[in-house]
Amino acid sequence: MTGGTDLSGKTCMVTGATSGHGRAVALSLAAGGADLVLLGRNKDKCAAVQREISGRGGRRPGILVCDLSSLTDIRRCAAEFLSWNRPLHMLVNNAGQVNERFRESADGFEETFAVNYLAMFALTLLLLERIKRSAPARIINVSSDTHYMAYLDLDDLEARRRRYSFMGAYSRSKLAVVYFTRELARRLAGSGVTVNAVDPGPVRSNIANKPGVLARMANALIQCTFPKPEKAARTAVYCATSPDLEGASGGYYRFMKKKDPGVSPDSEFGARLWDITARMVGMDTDNI
Ligand SMILES: NC(=O)c1ccc[n+]([C@@H]2O[C@H](COP(=O)([O-])OP(=O)(O)OC[C@H]3O[C@@H](n4cnc5c(N)ncnc54)[C@H](OP(=O)(O)O)[C@@H]3O)[C@@H](O)[C@H]2O)c1
Repeated sequence: MTGGTDLSGKTCMVTGATSGHGRAVALSLAAGGADLVLLGRNKDKCAAVQREISGRGGRRPGILVCDLSSLTDIRRCAAEFLSWNRPLHMLVNNAGQVNERFRESADGFEETFAVNYLAMFALTLLLLERIKRSAPARIINVSSDTHYMAYLDLDDLEARRRRYSFMGAYSRSKLAVVYFTRELARRLAGSGVTVNAVDPGPVRSNIANKPGVLARMANALIQCTFPKPEKAARTAVYCATSPDLEGASGGYYRFMKKKDPGVSPDSEFGARLWDITARMVGMDTDNI
């Protein structure tokens, strides 16, 4: 699925590699010859994907166990990876979730916003120097077309002042991913590192395989009608590997085609969102 691109010697980290889209992306990159690093919150599930890749003749992936709802764990995990002294040529920020009911992360943030967006921001920036030193390198951020229905209030990013809705929380986190991608691309111009956002389209995955009435209904629909993860993974793999996208950055892709993300071309909103996010995750990003 890497379109014949030889990924030997390339180190690729995939977050949320234990299920659905992330697992399919990891298997595909490994089939192209890449050295995988599987990031997941469940050690046994990571080990199962590790065995699967080795069993298919791929190089044995490294494993990083990390709960992306915790900034402390993200910092620990990034430090662990950096201590391996390995390059990082591709980072696929795939992990995602949605909660039927409001939940707070360990750090006190709305959990879907924390896992889908704040974690992506923090992990990427903690690894960024290593990624830059590994250039040419690519960062792929998994968003979703649901972002088209979202609105971000910079004074109330987690929408605490509004009644919780799972679709609202999910789509807001994915809109923040689109802005983050564009702003990071702007800051990385000329560095040899590109960053693009993707919507994999519908994926037959475990995202709604949870307790709750709405989740059960959504899960039934997903399992019956959504395409298999292997098919959905094509766009992320294309963005991570295709020679056609050399130097292309700041874009939004669906079904292996660039599309207009429908956000204001003015970069001021993205820059302000960046500053607020940096404060939320407690990171100094002045040098980025
Ligand atoms: N399904 C769709 O139709 C669809 C459409 C557009 C975009 N997407 C996006 O695609 C991405 C992958 O989702 P999926 O549909 O493949 O769902 P999935 O099967 O539930 O996979 C989600 C992955 O994220 C991991 N994850 C969730 N919370 C985590 C946490 N706190 N710490 C570490 N890892 C965590 C999960 O780990 P566990 O295995 O331990 O649960 C799993 O590996 C998400 O960003 C999602 O928003 C999905």
